[in-house]
Amino acid sequence: MRFSNKRGGTAADYTITTDGWAHSPPHSQTERHIPMPRDDSHLPTALQGLRVPLVASPLFIISVPELVIAQCKAGVIGSFPALNAREAEGEHPLLDTWLTQINEELDRHNQANPDNPAAPFAVNQIVHRSNARLERDLEICARHKVPIWITSLGAREEVNEAAHSCGGIVLHDVINNTFAKKAISKGADGLVAVAAGAGGHAGMQSPFALVREIRGWFDGPLLLSGAIATGEALLAARAMGADLGYAGSAFIATDEANAQPEYKQMIADGSAEDIVYSSLFTGVSGNYLRGSIQAAGMDPDNLPSADASSMNFGDGSSKPKAWKSIWGAGQGIGAVKSVGPAAGVVDRIADEYHAAGKRLAAEFAE
Ligand SMILES: Cc1cc2nc3c(=O)[nH]c(=O)nc-3n(C[C@H](O)[C@H](O)[C@H](O)COP(=O)(O)O)c2cc1C
Repeated sequence: MRFSNKRGGTAADYTITTDGWAHSPPHSQTERHIPMPRDDSHLPTALQGLRVPLVASPLFIISVPELVIAQCKAGVIGSFPALNAREAEGEHPLLDTWLTQINEELDRHNQANPDNPAAPFAVNQIVHRSNARLERDLEICARHKVPIWITSLGAREEVNEAAHSCGGIVLHDVINNTFAKKAISKGADGLVAVAAGAGGHAGMQSPFALVREIRGWFDGPLLLSGAIATGEALLAARAMGADLGYAGSAFIATDEANAQPEYKQMIADGSAEDIVYSSLFTGVSGNYLRGSIQAAGMDPDNLPSADASSMNFGDGSSKPKAWKSIWGAGQGIGAVKSVGPAAGVVDRIADEYHAAGKRLAAEFAE
């Protein structure tokens, strides 16, 4: 039995045989066909019909239009932080230019590929009191009708209202259940649960605990972030109760990412043991590559801590020098073996996701 999702281009055959394993057609007489459509009808339209239920998460400095467009064309939601679009003083806002470019390119793709349209994109707003650009960026995003808004470091009603005013939805990222409740009470539509092991600013809670606690009271859109770099991990996130996965580090080692070649290679060569959790670099605890800390002349095993008051987004970034030479990455990078096109990452995750789903479906078939 065939199931076509709303993007239209992908269809999956789930065929369970009496030997318990999934096979592709041709089918034998003894086979039963078990359809496994992904019922995403409970989700907002912007999150429906993806090739795999995945958001390629916003990455400071690294996510640029070329990467976002490649992610969306490959069938997952691409995203970037608004603060990545930084023009020189007096120039036209680069965010405006980027949004025009992304919308036009995705429109062109959709017209040329009506059976295989691109996924929508998201813009990340850092809602920290030191982000002096926030109001301007909200206006630009509302004008471009950005479909998905991801908010970090503060839940504010006026940001949610700006998103809703243009038909967008807001996903707010949180590291615990208290922040999750606060975000929804302020009007966010959904949550990104950032668990232990995530790249960049990360929580400390196990994904099992965090998703369970949030699902105890919230049945809206829930995404899980933290070391999701394989289709198996994505399927596990779904099994836990998340609607979509949220993956960042796997997309750093791609051709389209705005990162130094040495950074990309360090991701491809690294594993979970190469990740260090520290608050030193931005004032908020996060995960970084051990090798980049050593290259900056510091001892990754003896880092002093910093407090949250040292965060400053006033000039468009939080300690940009630190983020440029100290490289963020999550614990899932062991799955990344080489640098290549972003579409290749999506293909790999999609293949793994479907294979893992078939394997488990076979296990649970009577
Ligand atoms: C280098 C780097 C930069 C990041 N920058 C941002 C950012 O600007 N805004 C944000 O909301 N999250 C940011 N994140 C967090 C990611 O969006 C996401 O939560 C994380 O990458 C998921 O974990 P993973 O890397 O293990 O997949 C960043 C992560 C990394 C690794």
